[in-house]
Amino acid sequence: MNVAIIGSGGREHVLAWKIRQSPLAGEVFVVPGNGGTSPNLAVAPGDFDALAEMCRRHRIDLLVVGPEAPLVEGIRDHFRGSEVMVFGPSKAAAQLEGSKIFAKRFMSRHGVATAEAERFEAPAAARDLVASRGGEVVIKYDGLAGGKGVFVTSSVAEAHEALDTIADTYGPDSPLVVEERLHGQEISILGITDGETIKLLTPSQDHKQRFANDEGPMTGGMGAFCPVPGCDEALMERIVADVVTPTMRGIAREGLDYVGVLYFGLMVTREGPKLLEYNVRFGDPEAEAVLPKLESDLLALIRACFDGSLSDRKLSFHPGFFVDVVLASDGYPGRYPTGVPITGLDEVLPDCLVFHAGTRRDGDQVLTSGGRVLNVVARGATLDRAIERAYRQADQIAFETKALRRDIGRREWVL
Ligand code: AMP
Ligand code: GLY
Repeated sequence: MNVAIIGSGGREHVLAWKIRQSPLAGEVFVVPGNGGTSPNLAVAPGDFDALAEMCRRHRIDLLVVGPEAPLVEGIRDHFRGSEVMVFGPSKAAAQLEGSKIFAKRFMSRHGVATAEAERFEAPAAARDLVASRGGEVVIKYDGLAGGKGVFVTSSVAEAHEALDTIADTYGPDSPLVVEERLHGQEISILGITDGETIKLLTPSQDHKQRFANDEGPMTGGMGAFCPVPGCDEALMERIVADVVTPTMRGIAREGLDYVGVLYFGLMVTREGPKLLEYNVRFGDPEAEAVLPKLESDLLALIRACFDGSLSDRKLSFHPGFFVDVVLASDGYPGRYPTGVPITGLDEVLPDCLVFHAGTRRDGDQVLTSGGRVLNVVARGATLDRAIERAYRQADQIAFETKALRRDIGRREWVL
């Protein structure tokens, strides 16, 4: 089977690495890819006609979609009826990520445990409510905002400022959601689904803030690890009962065409797990920790989603812990320079992997080209060993603008 992975980050690099290990894999392209992936095909992920032409030319059987944008724009619908399989949900189902309001209503229709929320047609209309809650709220712009449309606030002044920011950035008539602010531990659970059966991968934790101790601005993710010691069997059972099962029942009842990855972003509170968000794709950086942990053949699992045999499959996992430390460009998530040469990539230590994200090649030289530059992944029998190895590998890689968090995997589990 020839496969094309759509996207250009660390998630797409780990997907190519994992899929290539399958005996079912023929050629595995990355579109458009980065400085660490090859072969790359220079086609824009949003240009579906050009992707179809690419599939004909390279006899591609399967598109595995990394980022959400092509899904929300309907890549699966575009290829319906063609011979190319698209691993990713339909445009209608992708609203679970594409619209916070759609997702919230879906959760409430199907009894999925989540934070209480209220919808407003405009930022100005929400001022009184956020004030009545003392500003202890979460304000979410209703649309794809690359993680930048969510504001967790602790005072009335902060909450009003967030509403003003939404009005300034997206317009005074932007719909939004105001949610009860939850406290606890965030975990990410990714599942592979054919719309009926879902096979869950190992729970992981992302580190979204830029600086140690979860301080500073939100980023796409500065590192991740799995498994999460606090997420035991009893908690998993509760997550399945309160969140996963009602979600799958809802997808079936509403007839959503969902073949792909469903990502549950959860807050584990003292009262139990609550769903913060769905994503309709693999998480990044979660995929870089979770896919190396998976022992099963990923391509066989994906194929099983198309031939109706997913429910017969049993997943297996490698023992131990996997930690992913992101090496970013100093300045990220704000402005940063690019084109900075990277050294130390030739030698990878035992039990380590390096996945590229914002890199490009200039001859033999690898240069930075984005905010998140590289992912250093290490495996260890204990979480401590995995962390220690990941930082040893991270310290061997050098570029002038290198910036990283030193506390990945060290978060305390307190509810
Ligand atoms: P979302 O895009 O909805 O996942 O929100 C982005 C981030 O905001 C989440 O990963 C959480 O860190 C935080 N967040 C979202 N909703 C809540 C909530 N109800 N309570 C506390 N934090 C939240
Ligand atoms: N790591 C969070 C996400 O992929 O949305």
